[in-house]
Amino acid sequence: NAADKGAYPFYMLKEVDEQPAVMRKLVQKYFDEDGKPTIDEELLKSMSEADHLYIVGAGTSYHAGLIGARIFEKLVGIPTSVHISSEFAYEQPLLSKKPFFIFLSQSGETADSREVLVNVNKNNWPSLTITNVDKSTLSREATFTELLYAGPEIAVASTKAYTAQIAVEAILAKALGEYMNKPVAGAFDVKHQLGLVANGMQSITDSKSILKDLSDKYLSKPRNAFYIGRGIDWSVSLEAALKLKEISYVQAEGFASGELKHGTIALIEKGTPVIGIITQDRTAGLTRSNLEETEARGANTLTIVSRHLAKDNDNIILPDVDELLSPLLSVVPAQLLAYYTSLGKGLDVDKPRNLAKSVTVQ
Ligand code: G6P
Repeated sequence: NAADKGAYPFYMLKEVDEQPAVMRKLVQKYFDEDGKPTIDEELLKSMSEADHLYIVGAGTSYHAGLIGARIFEKLVGIPTSVHISSEFAYEQPLLSKKPFFIFLSQSGETADSREVLVNVNKNNWPSLTITNVDKSTLSREATFTELLYAGPEIAVASTKAYTAQIAVEAILAKALGEYMNKPVAGAFDVKHQLGLVANGMQSITDSKSILKDLSDKYLSKPRNAFYIGRGIDWSVSLEAALKLKEISYVQAEGFASGELKHGTIALIEKGTPVIGIITQDRTAGLTRSNLEETEARGANTLTIVSRHLAKDNDNIILPDVDELLSPLLSVVPAQLLAYYTSLGKGLDVDKPRNLAKSVTVQ
């Protein structure tokens, strides 16, 4: 039974460990024998006619959208923006002439996201829901649906749905970019990359004892912590911080590393944990200097770094994959650091206080 936690103490750990299998399953589901993505032509046609893609979601799904927007803009070349559904529903920004909406929702039931979709349908705008739950409300009401095939996600803190959402966005961007004859999409071998990602995730989840030790040493005591990064690493830092705060109750913030010195660095004290995510060639050196700036103010710094950028004293080394897909790996140690911090405090990892798995009120 997929919804059984078996030998695992908590669903969250099981779901973190399932991520390599989910990546492999997505490769199976979304590619034909010739390695071509099997995305519905009608969907590709509809998206290709848009002048702007609007990604809408809440919580972790919103964070997966932040990554997706970067991938769509790079591979497809259609301007893409990402919106928190509870904001978009009630303060709609000025829209482009030919909008296309992408709803990201693990459950397919989030009330604020549905509120946006109701309005989208009133205007006859085309939409796609990317969800883990077939026939969920958002799936039924959108023009198109693509599924996450992640299996039931029970822990309140979302893990495998986040990585599945990013993988599906990447597959869709590849298919759409190719449909629109974009050379950069043609050159992006997402199928091969997702295989590398699955193996990379496996090697990270096989190093749990390292992550447990780092959590005990750096995160078990402090009341607050920071994840920092630039570009796509910044987007991941928001999700990494959310994991830590929702299950371990550490007040965590994900921050654009270059922006720290404009105010937030004032919060750094002796022992404040600052975790740098470093996967992008162009910004690696800059984030490293920002980490040093926090260290000079007493921070205990940690690094999550892609292998080709790694130095001797880095803490967590990620196998190399295409930079655009690096979030699929860099988030995994952050999920496990949050897990072990919560576990170490004796908290109920799967059912954190005040939170629900699916938020069906506005
Ligand atoms: C709740 C859950 C989060 C989730 C968010 C959006 O807050 O606790 O894990 O990311 O809802 O849910 P959805 O089902 O729309 O992805």
